[in-house]
Amino acid sequence: MNEHVDPLGSAILQLREGSAGLTRPIVIESFPFDAMLGEGDICAMLRALSDHPQRELLLRIFIGARQCFQSERRVFDNPPEGDGGLEAWGTDMFGPDRWGCTLYRAEQLNPLLAERIAGPWKTLKAGTTEENCGQEIFVFAGNYGKTPFGVHEDKEQGAAVHFHIGPGVKRMYMWTREAFEAATGGTSTFYDLPAIADTAEVFEIPAGSAFLLPAGWFHIGETEDYSAGIVVTNVRLPEARLRDMAVSRYLDCLDTDGDEPDDDDLSRTLGEMIGTGRRIRDAERVSNAGFSPAPFEIGDGPDPDAETRFRRRAAFPLVVQEDAVSGGSGAMSLYARGNRLTLPESLALQDLADDLNTLETLTWGDMRARLEAEFEPDAADFICRFLLDTRAIEATGEDDRADD
Ligand SMILES: [Fe+2]
Repeated sequence: MNEHVDPLGSAILQLREGSAGLTRPIVIESFPFDAMLGEGDICAMLRALSDHPQRELLLRIFIGARQCFQSERRVFDNPPEGDGGLEAWGTDMFGPDRWGCTLYRAEQLNPLLAERIAGPWKTLKAGTTEENCGQEIFVFAGNYGKTPFGVHEDKEQGAAVHFHIGPGVKRMYMWTREAFEAATGGTSTFYDLPAIADTAEVFEIPAGSAFLLPAGWFHIGETEDYSAGIVVTNVRLPEARLRDMAVSRYLDCLDTDGDEPDDDDLSRTLGEMIGTGRRIRDAERVSNAGFSPAPFEIGDGPDPDAETRFRRRAAFPLVVQEDAVSGGSGAMSLYARGNRLTLPESLALQDLADDLNTLETLTWGDMRARLEAEFEPDAADFICRFLLDTRAIEATGEDDRADD
């Protein structure tokens, strides 16, 4: 028997089993999510907004149930300074009216949070019909009463877990598809909650709880008093959109050196483009544990000491594969944390990735030397920096110096 039970791990299993594999709503009170996420993560996301190239798409501020673009711009310039006090910051920023702050695809704004969630989330999905889904992080904070979206179904989402930080209680009104159709006569978003509230199943979600919202349920949330929460949701896109995305990913990845793609590239059948694009997207998703990658840059700081030991971050496998975008020219791609690097075919690279994938620890010097068997020193250095700066590997805290 394992004497050191991991409270978060057992709570995640309880969530999976209690929801019959993510198919039934459930509230689990006193969910030990403090080690994984908290108010400080939301503050960090708001601070990261100003530098994100798509910041306008990631933030929505509602004041008195209307979206307020002016307030969104003010948030970019005046995010919360500390890792707490979100309510006071909001009241200060948005005044006495009811307000709501929503962040979309928040994994882009807080890669460390995505790292903490990745392992538990893999456990949550394991063995369910959503095992191979990617996932996104949303944030809600505010006191805006009923969410301004009406009673709706999230068509492109699988199951979602609301990690409710509080302090206020959140209430969820829920309908199965059948119950919603019976109550409203259809499946369109419905804005008159009082008219159908008595047909809903209502779930009270106190601070510190996790709530599982399964795919296909109609719902609306309500927060009379200020509260904040972080939601992780599986993504289930319709096949037609997945094909579109695969083709555009294929076209993005053509190695054209800034020129128009040539006739050979464009003469491939649609099926080939979809197949290749899908292979690329799958490798990106797997290597980042289902999250879309955050933007990153290769840093120009000094390299680590040659003796520093590294290991792969456990939830994020490296993928090395030929992806045919370069037309079988002997190139292969290395995927680390959802980022793709195309390189000449190399046994040394494949071996290095295999060893890191077994969670072997290697020194910086070892990794470079192994790659230098087949790459120029600059290229070997660049590949190691790519692994480090995407956060695919981390220093273990031990090193290999002869003198200790
Ligand atoms: Fe929703």
